[in-house]
Amino acid sequence: MERTFVMIKPDGVQRGLVGEVISRIEKKGLKIVAMKMLWIEEDLAREHYTEHSEKPFFQALVDYITSGPVVAMVVEGKEAVKVVRTLVGATNPVEALPGTIRGDFGMDIGRNVVHASDSLESAEREISLFFSADEIVEYSKSGEEWLYE
Ligand code: RTP
Ligand code: MG
Repeated sequence: MERTFVMIKPDGVQRGLVGEVISRIEKKGLKIVAMKMLWIEEDLAREHYTEHSEKPFFQALVDYITSGPVVAMVVEGKEAVKVVRTLVGATNPVEALPGTIRGDFGMDIGRNVVHASDSLESAEREISLFFSADEIVEYSKSGEEWLYE
């Protein structure tokens, strides 16, 4: 099983899409093992998006992600990193396919509703930035035999 980091960005919260996003994650068969709402501080935003620190859109990205509360989650499942990226869709909602979160709910690359880790290494880094070990809950979920062979 893999774990990945997912975050409903400030636009997703303000537009009332928290339930919709969580619902898609649950219905897919992924298991939520940690979740909280927080308002990200500038330093954490810069650290989270450090790979983009030299990009022209970096400050706008930091301003966006700190513009209101977010909902952060750790999500578990077989190939969870890839599965969640597929659910989320392409970075630019203009190109994201219908049926994906960004394809169904976004209009602009700078307001693309959700974040999801892009690799196992990113997932581990991002999970530890947002959650302490004791905030991640281990439990078994009924019906797993109907999800996995
Ligand atoms: P995320 O990290 O938020 O899950 O998005 P991503 O992997 O699909 O895309 P990434 O390349 O990591 O970019 C991070 C976020 O920066 C904003 N962005 N703006 N104006 C631009 O050209 C531009 N490019 C990226 C987006 O909000 C993107 O999600
Ligand atoms: Mg990314």
